[in-house]
This record gives sequence, structure tokens and C-alpha cells, in this order.
Amino acid sequence: MKLFIDTANVDEIRTAMSWGVLDGVTTNPSLIAKEKRDYKETVKEICAIVPGPVSAEVLSTDYDGMLEEAREWSKVAKNVVVKIPLLPDGIKVVKQLTLEDIKTNVTLVFSVNQAVLAAKAGATYVSPFVGRIDDIGGNGMLLVEEILTTFMNYDLDTEVIVASVRNGRHIVDSLMMGAHIATIPFKILQGMFKHPLTDIGIERFLADYKAAMDG
Ligand code: G3P
Repeated sequence: MKLFIDTANVDEIRTAMSWGVLDGVTTNPSLIAKEKRDYKETVKEICAIVPGPVSAEVLSTDYDGMLEEAREWSKVAKNVVVKIPLLPDGIKVVKQLTLEDIKTNVTLVFSVNQAVLAAKAGATYVSPFVGRIDDIGGNGMLLVEEILTTFMNYDLDTEVIVASVRNGRHIVDSLMMGAHIATIPFKILQGMFKHPLTDIGIERFLADYKAAMDG
């Protein structure tokens, strides 16, 4: 499974990149807003740090506006993937971008039916938001499982990005289901390293060694 980071913070991206395990980045307008920086400049900088796919989202919601923005994004860097919201016009835009060989990530996916529409239009990725489904009492990972089964049943090439990841369990479940990608906030990505027994083990190794040498 590929690990993406879900942030627009370049310091977090540089740190995650330095670990040598980062495959890509997803941003969205809310994440960019947190950084209080120019959207295009930020994405350009991220694309130079990470060689893998970097998702940048359109802000328009009508066909012409989304298509124009998508074409603009595709010129920013070779590894930009254009994030398009799941709307009828959005799906039409994805179909057109597929013809133009521009990679797309269809975002705000909350059902299998939506995911299928995106895949049929040729989306490179679909992003089901698991945390937001859990937030309202649903089961986000069940949706991921159903999308993966559907794509397998019909040989659809679209990759599934598990998005809106809230905890380490979402990552484990994604791995067990064979999801292609999880896009993970920095804190949770950092948390993947952590286990109390690792910390205790290191402490004990060093203490034992020191005791033997001092004694
Ligand atoms: O990048 C989209 C998605 O991961 C948003 O997550 O935490 O705002 O639901 P969240």
C-alpha cells in the first residue's frame, strides 16, 4: 500500500519525506487555508519536494470553471493530480481530463455508486472520506471494502485513496482490505512509529549494557 500525507504544510512534508516512506501528498482548500499561503506557490513547492503524485483541488463547481482550473493545475508540475469534487459536472470534467491524459482524484466520495461513476469516467483515484462517515455514525471502512470489491469485480483501474483518516486503526483496516493508498495526517503518520514496548525495549537494552559496563 502507498502512504500519502494529507497536509499542505511543507515542514511536515519535508519531515515525512526524510523518513523515506512517503509516496505522495493530498491537499485540499481547507488544508491550504490553514497555511495562509498562496495555493499555487504551495503546491509548486510540494511538487518539488515529493516526486510522487500531489493532489491539488479545483475551487469552481461548474463544468467550465473546473475544466479551466484543472488544465491550469496540470501545467504547474508533472506530478500534479487534479482533485475534482463528486458532482455531475465534476464527473464530466473527469471524463474530459481522462481524454487529455490529465490525472484526477475524485474527492468527497461517500458511496459505492459515486465511486463507480468516477471510475467509469476514468478517474485515476477516488477518495472515500472514512472519518467523516464514522463521525455521523456510519462505517467508513465498510464503504472502502465495498468500493474495492466493486472495482475488482469489474476490473476497474481506478485506485482507492482512503481519506479522512482519523486513527491508526483506519490504516490497519486499509492494509487488511488491500486498499491502494491511505492519505494520512502528519500526527497519525508519525504515530505509526510508536509502540510503548519499543520505547521500553530500547531503555532496557541501554540500561543493561550500561550496568554491565559500569559494573
Ligand atoms: O484530504 C481530504 C480528507 O482527508 C479530509 O479529511 O479530516 O477533513 O475529514 P478530514
